[in-house]
Amino acid sequence: MEYFARSGQKTPGRTACAVVGVFEDDGLTVSGKAVDRAADGMLAAILKAGDFSGKAGQTALLPQTPIKGCSRILLVGLGKADGFDTARYRAAAGAAAKALAGAGAGDCLWLPAGDELAGLSVYAAARHASEAMEEAAYRFDEQKSSKPKPGKLKRVGFPVSGRGAKAEAERGIADGTGIAEGQALARTLANRPPNVCTPSHLAAVARSLAKEHKSLTATIHDEAQIRKMGMGAFLSVTAGSRQPAKLIVLKHAGGASGEAPVVLVGKGITFDTGGVSLKPPLAMDEMKFDMGGAAGVLGAMASVARLGLPLNVTAIVPTCENMPDGNATRPGDIVRTMSGQTVEILNTDAEGRLILCDALTYAKRFKPAAVVDVATLTGACVIALGHYMTGLMSTDDDLADALLAAGKTAADKAWRLPVSEEYDRDLKSNFADFPNVTGREGGAITAACFLSRFTKGMSWAHLDIAGTAWRSGAQKGATGRPVPLLVQMLMDRTGAS
Ligand code: BES
Ligand code: MN
Ligand code: ZN
Repeated sequence: MEYFARSGQKTPGRTACAVVGVFEDDGLTVSGKAVDRAADGMLAAILKAGDFSGKAGQTALLPQTPIKGCSRILLVGLGKADGFDTARYRAAAGAAAKALAGAGAGDCLWLPAGDELAGLSVYAAARHASEAMEEAAYRFDEQKSSKPKPGKLKRVGFPVSGRGAKAEAERGIADGTGIAEGQALARTLANRPPNVCTPSHLAAVARSLAKEHKSLTATIHDEAQIRKMGMGAFLSVTAGSRQPAKLIVLKHAGGASGEAPVVLVGKGITFDTGGVSLKPPLAMDEMKFDMGGAAGVLGAMASVARLGLPLNVTAIVPTCENMPDGNATRPGDIVRTMSGQTVEILNTDAEGRLILCDALTYAKRFKPAAVVDVATLTGACVIALGHYMTGLMSTDDDLADALLAAGKTAADKAWRLPVSEEYDRDLKSNFADFPNVTGREGGAITAACFLSRFTKGMSWAHLDIAGTAWRSGAQKGATGRPVPLLVQMLMDRTGAS
């Protein structure tokens, strides 16, 4: 989809479809009232007759209008004015894109594009509308033998008025589409089946990103190099797999050459059977999404490169499969991590922390300004927070606050859980320095405590996206989270927003 900003009056002018926002209690928005006047009160009459309530996400397409040059009007519900927020605005834009996907309009004007809605700047309106429309238009059909026809809608206009508003809207469109591009890549990688999206596939994707963007350089370490670096924990996870493990390093050089990078580490388990501690069969297919952290980190790098963010960012992706096999790691096996600490593997299904701990130790060599790891790490996090918020755990309050704020701005929220001494104490082993699991209680937190033993001296945060990176059920598929949160956090560090 192509997006453009247009300055001048808000009454539609020539368009295949004017999209009008309607509040459930307050009725038409300012731009909606202008359209209503041009249509001799037709919209007000529709609302009065009770045919459109303005409930959040509701849409109604009026395929004819009395306004010259304006072929259609799409009404979009914004919900109650009280409590209206960015998430609601995005849902409305997404609903509009879905409603228009099956309509005949080749272009549309998204009228609530300026600063007429409380709490949304011209920039934020254009950014979130374009991002949400892209998100709604996303399809994953590369494995379908007959592809559904693409929708007719090709161009979306954002009419704005006032000095400087056009440039602000254009900046919003650039950021919105740039973030959406990375998010779509993350979704596609995670949606791909595990026989396609292997560790080697992720490595190839990193290489092709580096080919596409001048600011990016990819380095792929193979198993021999991983062994040489002493990553015994990482190697223990791949021991049962026929697919070779990879350690992907993708660097974005956007800042000064000596500037400390922000390091993003993504869990890249391309399939998690649980290993010898085998998972139950129900919905095991969903464990193809266990590389959601890797997908999110690679997606964020694509956005960072597209947007040309002026800072250094390094992505580290340890990637392998977790399979049962005669050669697989056994419960009771003890491994030596790259840090020198030994770990007793009590449960081979707690594999994410085993690949991440070595990647976090590896991250130290970059002397990072901050390290954020991203992982579908624990079912316990899904129980604690459900599917709306990502679990955030950090030993650095400033970094945690920055991530929480970025999540709010980007409508990709996180919620902080503790990483503290009481929980950490449970990591006890009679045979090694510590085990890879404790009891079930507080599982998201004890996993973070495990990781924190490898991040001493670094500003570190951990995002557990087990509940937010994908949806199950009829809408099964990857969400592309936390790409918006990560990119926002990086944008915030550049001082722009
Ligand atoms: N990949 C899973 C976590 C997961 C579970 C993500 C469900 C999304 C949905 C992870 O590797 C895992 O198996 N974790 C175990 C840890 C346990 C053995 C301590 C879990 O959460 O059950
Ligand atoms: Mn597991
Ligand atoms: Zn896993």
